[in-house]
Amino acid sequence: MKIEIALTINGRKRTATVEPRQSLADLLREDLRLTATHLGCEQGVCGACTVLIDGAPARACIALAVSLDGADIRTLEGLGDDALMATLKDAFHENHGLQCGFCTPGMLVSSWDLIRRRPRLSEQEIRIGMSGNLCRCTGYQDRALHQGGSRHAVRGGGRREGGARRKQAGGRLMRIEKSFQIKAPREHVWTMLNDVRLVAACLPGAAIIGELGDNRYKGRMSVKVGPMAAAFNGEIGIDSRKQDWTGVVSGKGADSGSSSRASGAMTYTLADGSTPASTRVDIVSEVNLAGPLAQFSKGQIVQEIANRITAAFVANFEARIALPAGQADQSALTASAPPASPPQQPTSQVDAGGLLWAVLRERMRAFFRRLLGRPPADA
Ligand code: FES
Ligand code: FES
Repeated sequence: MKIEIALTINGRKRTATVEPRQSLADLLREDLRLTATHLGCEQGVCGACTVLIDGAPARACIALAVSLDGADIRTLEGLGDDALMATLKDAFHENHGLQCGFCTPGMLVSSWDLIRRRPRLSEQEIRIGMSGNLCRCTGYQDRALHQGGSRHAVRGGGRREGGARRKQAGGRLMRIEKSFQIKAPREHVWTMLNDVRLVAACLPGAAIIGELGDNRYKGRMSVKVGPMAAAFNGEIGIDSRKQDWTGVVSGKGADSGSSSRASGAMTYTLADGSTPASTRVDIVSEVNLAGPLAQFSKGQIVQEIANRITAAFVANFEARIALPAGQADQSALTASAPPASPPQQPTSQVDAGGLLWAVLRERMRAFFRRLLGRPPADA
């Protein structure tokens, strides 16, 4: 069965007839001959196939073309006349930013997006922002981020090293970028965001269970996927720099029951919001998930689940931020203390299975509506 879809590709309206299982990368490369989009791992890990879907970077190898009816796609070819892209290409050339060039299209698209969204980044933030793109040639650096980035280790280059790294990681990398607004002044949001117990209390499934000193904590993250329940126990560390309103939370943990492991880092940056006394929070997180739970960490579905978890976090955080001083702290410290308004997700365990099914159900409905020629539900 083939399905006709309509997209805008590099500013030009196109129609295509695709198999339901055809990836966007195959559509671009095989059908439209837009071969700047490279294919490396074909499982969403290496970033060689990075393109912009509706303005956001995405892995074309795991994006199903059929799900992109109406989307706006921009590939490296579509940025050929862009001044920032021209500057980036020169910078890559002058700074020996490539060897064989296979990863370079994805690197260019990701760095173009990063600079446009966040022009004043520190070196560490650039490292985090680009850590979803792997280069097998040029001795990329260890992406295992630890507190303050102090354990970044330069590795030798070459394919052997790249293979060893993949084996060592043994999992699936998820990269999530979110921006949201909190209805409170930046100073207040900063203080509360640096209260690790309060943040954990707002995050569905998260809990702080002990202090290790020097801004390091023992934590637990509980996740439920269908019948599979996992509790990741591990350590997290926080390193924040108020002079640029940025912090990094890094950590790793393991669930002995499902033999799954997770490690990663999240950078948050605060800026003034679009309305008075509001704050914009930009988050970039990289999580490597290994073991049975890694099978649920695919592309856009993860993004949609992340959207829902973020919405729950913002609602919980705003509810606590609205509490009088002292009460918010107390509610963060007391597991049974109710928030000012009901959280959108239970804070004891995040039900990823439930979220996954909700996302898939919506997608199936939209798919059949398109198939039957019916207008979208919200039309
Ligand atoms: Fe798409 Fe590697 S080819 S992420
Ligand atoms: Fe060869 Fe990056 S330059 S893979």
